[in-house]
Amino acid sequence: MTSPSTPKTPSVPTGQPRVSIKGASKSFGDSVVLNGIDLDVEVGEVAVLIGPSGAGKSTLLRCINGLERLTAGSVEIDGVRLQYREAALNRMREHVGMVFQSFNLFPHLTAIENVMMAQMSVSKRSSADARERASALLARVGLEDKTESYPSALSGGQQQRVAIARALAMSPKLMLFDEPTSALDPELVGEVLQVMRELADDGMTMVVVTHEMRFARQVADRVILLADGGIVEEGAPEKVLDNPESDRAKAFLRQIESGG
Ligand SMILES: Nc1ncnc2c1ncn2[C@@H]1O[C@H](COP(=O)(O)OP(=O)(O)OP(=O)(O)O)[C@@H](O)[C@H]1O
Ligand SMILES: [Mg+2]
Repeated sequence: MTSPSTPKTPSVPTGQPRVSIKGASKSFGDSVVLNGIDLDVEVGEVAVLIGPSGAGKSTLLRCINGLERLTAGSVEIDGVRLQYREAALNRMREHVGMVFQSFNLFPHLTAIENVMMAQMSVSKRSSADARERASALLARVGLEDKTESYPSALSGGQQQRVAIARALAMSPKLMLFDEPTSALDPELVGEVLQVMRELADDGMTMVVVTHEMRFARQVADRVILLADGGIVEEGAPEKVLDNPESDRAKAFLRQIESGG
């Protein structure tokens, strides 16, 4: 990945909210998916969201960056309330990177062009500046030798690392990950998690939806279990994963332990 000699510093939540979600509700028609969620994520914190399929994990992430509109409640990023006007959304998204399960790279662009694109179109960087930054970011995710490859010539893990580099190119202050390793062959999961671990060590504020419990244990400052429209349990990984209080959490954890 990146230089193996990079010193590891634990991420340090700072007590200052980067994301502040208050009374967030989201319905699709008659179906209530999120029912009054309150959640703050601090600067430098890594929050891992877990929960059963359909619990609303993706919906919550999408509400944080305005891809979905809350039915009620509010989202603030660094104290600025999310507004749904196009210009305000675009400004906010410059600071919020999102990585999806499907890598969503442009197939007709090389790795480096994928990482250069938004820098030029959104941030108005010159092609030379964008290329230099893209090159450094691809090296950071261990892909210095793949800069000129098209996505079709890259493995899933490599494509996902390009997608992470692309998100980082905008210098986000918050990164959202929605099951970034779920579409990968098992042997490729580790290389993507390693890049995410290094990001966390570098102090990035991250909200991560994942089923990778080992990653949650090692990297999360806080694990948040979402079910039935709300947060049913949250706290340090050991607490939530090993000593859950609620029956709902116990049932969910039994289910994932048995692989179901
Ligand atoms: N655009 C939409 N229109 C209607 N219903 C939706 C829409 N997006 C999500 N839903 C519904 O909202 C609920 C929560 O979906 P969401 O994708 O957020 O769950 P999830 O926790 O991410 O699940 P998974 O673990 O399977 O990814 C589901 O019942 C889903 O069908
Ligand atoms: Mg989902």
